[in-house]
Amino acid sequence: MTTVSTNSRVDALFSVPSLEGAPDLLTATDVTKSYGPNPVLRGVTMHVRKGEVLALVGDNGAGKSTFIKVLAGFHQPDGGQMTWEGQPLQLKSPTDARDHGIETVYQDLALIDDLSVFQNMFLGREPIKRYGGILPLTDNGTMKRQTRTYLDQLGINLPSVSSLVRDLSGGQRQSIAVARAMQSNPKLLIMDEPLAALGVREGALVLGLVQELRKRRQVSIIMIVHNYSQVFEVSDRINFLHSGEIVLDVDTDKTSEEELIHIVKSGLGRQAVAEAVASTQI
Ligand SMILES: Nc1ncnc2c1ncn2[C@@H]1O[C@H](COP(=O)(O)OP(=O)(O)OP(=O)(O)O)[C@@H](O)[C@H]1O
Ligand SMILES: [Mg+2]
Repeated sequence: MTTVSTNSRVDALFSVPSLEGAPDLLTATDVTKSYGPNPVLRGVTMHVRKGEVLALVGDNGAGKSTFIKVLAGFHQPDGGQMTWEGQPLQLKSPTDARDHGIETVYQDLALIDDLSVFQNMFLGREPIKRYGGILPLTDNGTMKRQTRTYLDQLGINLPSVSSLVRDLSGGQRQSIAVARAMQSNPKLLIMDEPLAALGVREGALVLGLVQELRKRRQVSIIMIVHNYSQVFEVSDRINFLHSGEIVLDVDTDKTSEEELIHIVKSGLGRQAVAEAVASTQI
């Protein structure tokens, strides 16, 4: 287990292009959000650079999904500012977010179990061919070919693109959901707990896909993850959200799983985290 993670870190060091000089794609400053009287986001300040993979970690109920839903246009923040490529950003709806190039893969994946992989990839925008020049039929051949090419490009191995989604493993399903989200060439891909409920092998499939995207540096990724060891494999930076605030922002290669656990156990307020960081000299 340790060997695998060390190897992938070494691999990451040598084959992932540097982010030096990359401009911010997204910034959020003091973003607040309450559900009724309950403040959930108390002032989230963070940024994501172009091509960067940011791991967002934090306890249950810390506000991670709520923040993601603000970025996805589902919730409007109560306060604070956001910018997108240097310009003020206000997202009115999920469609608005998508139009900006923000795609989100939620935990339920929103795939249709009883449809095949290629039907899921083309859902709602199926190509039509005319039988005998008249009768409109969905062009399954084209969908299959394009799905196969696209999955190959992303390094996703599937025996058949005609398999029903219900027959795929958890990791394969997650990969298909990511591939579908990537079809519109988003600038920001958000993944809410892509590794939850996946075993080690299945999780490795998804992490491999994220690493592949990271090497290309064409899309920024915010990935919510619970297991610290997994974030070290594929992320450039780690943000720790606690009680609706980012209390730690650290480059992945400047910390370790042990340090992170030490910090998280330190008491978790901003002050406690700052002291723990100082004591471990991150
Ligand atoms: N629609 C909602 N209405 C009211 N309260 C909500 C709503 N969604 C979330 N909450 C509350 O807001 C807080 C933050 O929830 P959120 O789902 O953002 O946390 P999270 O960090 O994603 O947690 P987890 O790791 O368990 O997924 C929780 O106390 C939750 O109960
Ligand atoms: Mg959540």
